[in-house]
Amino acid sequence: FPIQKADIIISAVQEEQYPDSVLPEIAIAGRSNVGKSSLINKLLNRKKLARTSSKPGRTRTINFFNIEDELIFVDVPGYGYAKVSKKELEKWNHMMEEYFSTRETLSKVVLITDLRHKPTQLDVQMYEYLKYLNIPVLIVATKADKVKRGVRTRHLNDVYTTLNVIEGDAVIPFSSETGEGTDDVWNNILMDLGI
Ligand code: GTP
Ligand code: MG
Repeated sequence: FPIQKADIIISAVQEEQYPDSVLPEIAIAGRSNVGKSSLINKLLNRKKLARTSSKPGRTRTINFFNIEDELIFVDVPGYGYAKVSKKELEKWNHMMEEYFSTRETLSKVVLITDLRHKPTQLDVQMYEYLKYLNIPVLIVATKADKVKRGVRTRHLNDVYTTLNVIEGDAVIPFSSETGEGTDDVWNNILMDLGI
């Protein structure tokens, strides 16, 4: 799937601003600083389309990207950033809930976890929430470049068991550094879009 065109459509904070589009949408969710924006850049082969940062909390709006007029990628702000105020947290919760529960064109969520660690309690909550909404989920365990070969299988199994991954949802090891898993993620996304 060679990408020529990948453009930001809008950075939204509420439903009224979402693009008026019928294209299938893939949202990228996960803990703050886990590597969501990096994954989008890697998949699209762009260095700076989605802004990344070594500091957590970089992405604060819901960012919609038009990919080849075929699908939309949505970069959402990460959860679990300790340094946010209660008010910020409430704003975030509302923004996410509004998006996930109302967006009719949302066809899959790519939930990013960190392969170095077991999924967190917030990852579990996020996965359960998405399953409650009946949204298909692809789990991508990123930063695989930081995990030694010998312990990989164990770390991958931890992802399955901690999240209680249901049949039909896949877990793919990935690295934005090495590009490992890029084809697998694309295949999974395109498979059910029929592109
Ligand atoms: P927020 O927008 O703040 O929620 O963060 P994010 O999930 O978009 O994370 P981002 O892509 O900005 O990456 C956070 C940090 O992790 C950056 O320093 C990246 O360089 C690093 N990073 C992301 N993916 C990988 C990876 O696969 N391997 C390694 N080693 N580092 C990574
Ligand atoms: Mg980000």
